[in-house]
Amino acid sequence: MLEVRELHKSFAGFVAVGGVSLDVADRQIVAVIGPNGAGKTTFFNLITGHLRPDSGRVIFAGRDITGAPPHRICRMGMGRSFQRTNIFAKLTVFENIQAALLAHHGRGRNFWSRSEDFYRVETEELLVSIGLQDEARTVAGTLSYGNQKQLELGIALTSDPRLLLLDEPTAGMSATETHDALRLLERIAGERGLTLLFTEHDMEVVFAIAEKIAVLHQGRLLAQGTPGEMRADPEVRRVYLGATT
Ligand SMILES: Nc1ncnc2c1ncn2[C@@H]1O[C@H](COP(=O)(O)OP(=O)(O)O)[C@@H](O)[C@H]1O
Ligand SMILES: [Mg+2]
Repeated sequence: MLEVRELHKSFAGFVAVGGVSLDVADRQIVAVIGPNGAGKTTFFNLITGHLRPDSGRVIFAGRDITGAPPHRICRMGMGRSFQRTNIFAKLTVFENIQAALLAHHGRGRNFWSRSEDFYRVETEELLVSIGLQDEARTVAGTLSYGNQKQLELGIALTSDPRLLLLDEPTAGMSATETHDALRLLERIAGERGLTLLFTEHDMEVVFAIAEKIAVLHQGRLLAQGTPGEMRADPEVRRVYLGATT
């Protein structure tokens, strides 16, 4: 599904991502872990087209997308969510999903007089899928933090992605919200046959759902393998796991 080859990105001489390669198989759930500043968000931005790599290649579903703009990559079936929420706080939950569907299908909101009917069925289906059907009329900014992240996942799903990149999907969540978010992610990934690539600082979350873990440290890939292999890797334990437990 995704082949990343030797990606490099520097900011004014500072190497944020220094030659990272990673393979993600169809329907695999892969976690990228590493301490703050390791380069995780930059790595994602290079994959999704929000940043242009200095060198290296990104192959998505067999096509070279290196340097392509984010909207084109999104249309090819790669969705993402951001580390901070990306919702319209003053719109309702329903309107947030609807606006995202309209945007994806190339129409501005409020272009038509009866805009509330556009993508009504699709919006309602998506709200059921993310478990927010009872909050459809709630103003998004008043939702609980966990529900806002659920909505954000819904927005990412409006482009019907095959590969979904999630940057710290449970950041700032309570233990209960984290648990619910994981169950939701697993269910949606299973139902839709999604491939997931996510960053996460909570090791319980990582070991609960990841099938493969890549460990970034100072812009370099320290190790990658199964959760069991990463737990047993002395280098990983020393620089990362050891520091947090
Ligand atoms: N636009 C930028 N300009 C300059 N430095 C940046 C920029 N984006 C990220 N960095 C630096 O690159 C490093 C990696 O950042 P980031 O990818 O956000 O790490 P992580 O997501 O793992 O915490 C950090 O040292 C950060 O300060
Ligand atoms: Mg980050």
